[in-house]
Amino acid sequence: MSQSNIKFTAVIGFPLAHSLSPVLHNAIYAGEGVDAKMEAIENSDVASLVSLIRSKPLELTAVTIPHKQTIIPLLDEVDEIAKKIGAVNTVVNRNGKLYGYNTDIIGIEKALLRISLTNKKILIVGAGGASRAVAFFLSQQAVSLYWYNRTQEKAKILAKEFGGKVVGSSDLNKIKFDVIVNTTPIGMYPNIGESPAPKIILRKSQTVFDIIYNPIKTKLLKDAELVGAQTINGLTMFVAQALAQEELWLQRKIENKNYENLLIKQL
Ligand code: ATR
Repeated sequence: MSQSNIKFTAVIGFPLAHSLSPVLHNAIYAGEGVDAKMEAIENSDVASLVSLIRSKPLELTAVTIPHKQTIIPLLDEVDEIAKKIGAVNTVVNRNGKLYGYNTDIIGIEKALLRISLTNKKILIVGAGGASRAVAFFLSQQAVSLYWYNRTQEKAKILAKEFGGKVVGSSDLNKIKFDVIVNTTPIGMYPNIGESPAPKIILRKSQTVFDIIYNPIKTKLLKDAELVGAQTINGLTMFVAQALAQEELWLQRKIENKNYENLLIKQL
């Protein structure tokens, strides 16, 4: 009997009820003829997850909320861009050595390069690991950044690092933002009735980008559509960052076989 050489990969985070990473990555393995299986491992303790990456071993790990920053000191090597961003969403285990990367930045670039950003006033909602990748990308464009976060202290740290001003809820409606980017999980499955931004700040002339992909149309995007704003959902970013993760692991180009459509059927 031939022995299976199946390789194991995972998405790690807490919570993970919303995650379609196993569906997407397993479809990529089927499409590419790779003998591998991704599973979702929900755990709030990042150190025990890293032990599992080493012991199982997990060859590729997609890192999500809330571990993108806290995982960094537990890795053996971190790529220069991921270091600058200050967040890792990808861990490749090469012969027991753990390498950290950030592919969120590739997804963010793909989603945001569709619109003109020059001289735009951009509000980043949130100040976590995903916000860092958004800010890193935007800090390289000629834009004015604004930060809004539940914990203002965290927004202040990011504003110092990437530039921009911190705004409180009472200032939000005083500024005409051209672009709003939600980087928080507010509105994500199962809490689909919530929105991270008050309706009063939404305008027809705006573009609103929500990095959430489950649901595809969040409450924030529905509210934005109602005022006539342009919307960008999280699906393009999700697929682009996942393909880049597989390319880092498999060390070859992975074509996008319209994985967005497969995900739309699941959502
Ligand atoms: P990720 O790595 O996916 O970005 P994270 O680092 O945990 O995850 O960051 C999540 C962001 O969403 C944070 O800005 C967090 O706000 P705090 O800085 O106050 O923790 C924000 N966030 C998460 N849940 C939230 C909630 N229920 N209400 C408001 N903000 C929330």
